[in-house]
Order: sequence, then structure tokens, then C-alpha cells
Amino acid sequence: MKLYLAPMEEITGYVFRNVLWRHFGCVDKYFTPFISPDNRITKKKYGCELLSANNEGMNTVPQLLTNDPALFNDAARTIADMGYEEININFGCPSNTVTGKFKGSGILRAPEMMDRFLDGVFSAHGSVLASYPKMRISLKTRVGYNDETDFDKAAEVLKRYPFSEITIHPRLKKDMYGGKPRMELFDRACGLFGAKIIYNGDIASIQDFNDIVGRYKGKIEGVMIGRGAVKNPAIFRQIRTGKKMTKEELFSFLDDLFEAYKEEYDAGNAAAKLKEVWSYTVGFIQDEKERADIYKMIVKSKGENGYRDASLVARGRIKINSTEGLQ
Ligand SMILES: Cc1cc2nc3c(=O)[nH]c(=O)nc-3n(C[C@H](O)[C@H](O)[C@H](O)COP(=O)(O)O)c2cc1C
Repeated sequence: MKLYLAPMEEITGYVFRNVLWRHFGCVDKYFTPFISPDNRITKKKYGCELLSANNEGMNTVPQLLTNDPALFNDAARTIADMGYEEININFGCPSNTVTGKFKGSGILRAPEMMDRFLDGVFSAHGSVLASYPKMRISLKTRVGYNDETDFDKAAEVLKRYPFSEITIHPRLKKDMYGGKPRMELFDRACGLFGAKIIYNGDIASIQDFNDIVGRYKGKIEGVMIGRGAVKNPAIFRQIRTGKKMTKEELFSFLDDLFEAYKEEYDAGNAAAKLKEVWSYTVGFIQDEKERADIYKMIVKSKGENGYRDASLVARGRIKINSTEGLQ
């Protein structure tokens, strides 16, 4: 079973990916947060994301978010020149600013536009595949926009294109990240494509992983984990080897992450980044009030010293659940 780190904007950028790789590894592919190629592929933020020096030792897959085949192919050629052999297309982003322009999951309600875009990606003159035949194009998609039947039309289009893999996150756009994954739609989507299917959504423990693998053995190639891996960056190692993360390992990871962000940005920005990560880390705290208190203390901390003090207090207060451990 392949294990992929999900793309998460502002979180799983190259700094996070490197620290996760150094501490725990066991990830088969690391997806970049989406890159919007609308004239920005060469901008500093994206340049850093893709530089080979920032992705050494990792199997990184750049993700592009656009519905414009010319922009896609231009960016894809730049990416291919950098040595990458797979590009992932984002048909999943639910944010209104994105979907309003028929990008991300917004394109799931516009099958004709999707068809024109994918034709430009895979077959038309100017396709990146014409000059880089080894390039693989994979897809990450939701299962519809507003209702459960949207995906039938979209799937008719998607079926015609040779994606190397399709990662399916079984939520509609309107679900955002709430509610439960719509497993009946995943069941339906699973059988539709010739491509290898990757499951994504709400895997936050070994139990969740085992449930998915038990249910879809032989039908899926792998799983992609996002929020569960920000909460527990050792989840991939635990799946592979059974070794749970200790509290020391968690705090060593968080401390290194802070230092790594500091090297790239400044201490203030590094603290802001860590506060975002902590919004997932506090998921380890079972007691609701304790969880809210600790999170509030982290978020309200000021500056580098304030953040460090709050992190030390949190370290003292986080207890390991006797049955779950740090999972
Ligand atoms: C803060 C945040 C940022 C995200 N950014 C991206 C992104 O850049 N590209 C993408 O395809 N999905 C993005 N996603 C969706 C995740 O990749 C994933 O599909 C979703 O979180 C469900 O998986 P999970 O339950 O394992 O987290 C993002 C999700 C969150 C919560």
C-alpha cells in the first residue's frame, strides 16, 4: 500500500516536508501544496517549493491548479525541465475564490470546460507530453460540487484521459472539510476508472488506515494522509513499522520545525507557522477543555520566547492516553 503526504496549502510546503522526511520518513510521495501557474510559477515562493535542493531525497510531486491548458503546459514544461516526472492536477480545492473561477472542485460542475482543459493537457498540440513523453499526469479530485450526481458527468470526461493515478477525496465541494467522507460515492467512483486509485480523507489513526485497507483491499493502490499527518507526523512510520511516536519525538519534531521555519523566514513568522501546526497537534489531547486551554495558550503567545514558553508548558501538560498512546 503506497503512502502519500497530502498537499496542504501553507502547511506541507518544503520546510515541513523536509523536517517530516528527516524525522520519520516512510512516505512514498510528498505532494506540494497547489501551485497556481497563472504567471507565478517562477515567483520566489513557488521556485523554493520546487528547487531540487529543497526536495533532496524525497519523491516530490508538484501540484498545479488551473483550468487553462496553455498555462498548465508552460508550467509543466518548466517543472519537467527541473527533473520532475509527475505532475498532479487539483480538481479538489473547495475555496470559493478558486471554485468561482471554475478551478479546483469548481471545474466538476463544468464538464465541457474540463474536457477542453484535459484535451489540452493530454492530447492537443502544445501538450507537455509531446516533448516529455515520460511525464505522468495524476489527478486529485473530490466527488462532486453540490450534489451526489455531479460526479457522474465529470467522471464520463475523466474516464477518457490516461491519468497515472487518481486520488479521490470523497467529499463534495459544499462539504468543505466537514461531515464524514461520503464512502458510498467513493465506492461508486472506485470502479469507474482504469487509473490506479488512491484513497484520501480522515485517516487520523492506525485504526482508520486499517479500516480503509480492509474495505478496499485490491481496489486501491494507496492512501494519502493530510491532517492526520500534521497531527501525527510519524503516522506513516507507524503504519510501515508499527513504531509509535513518543512524546520526545513529537517535541523534537516541533522544535526542529520551528528552527527550520526560522531559517527560511523570521522568528515571528516561524511562530505563526507553528501555531497553525499546533491546531492539529492538540488533537492528541483527549479532554476538550484542556485541549482548548492549551491551544489558546499557544495561539496567544507572543514572539519567539513566548512561543517557546507556551510550547514547554504544553509539553508538560500533554498526557499520553493509556490505550491510544501518541498515535
Ligand atoms: C489547510 C488545508 C490546506 C489544503 N491545501 C490543499 C492543496 O493545496 N491542494 C490539495 O489538493 N488539497 C489541499 N487540501 C486538502 C487535503 O489535501 C486533503 O484532501 C484533505 O485535508 C482531506 O484529507 P485528510 O483528512 O487526510 O486531511 C488542503 C486541506 C487543508 C485542511
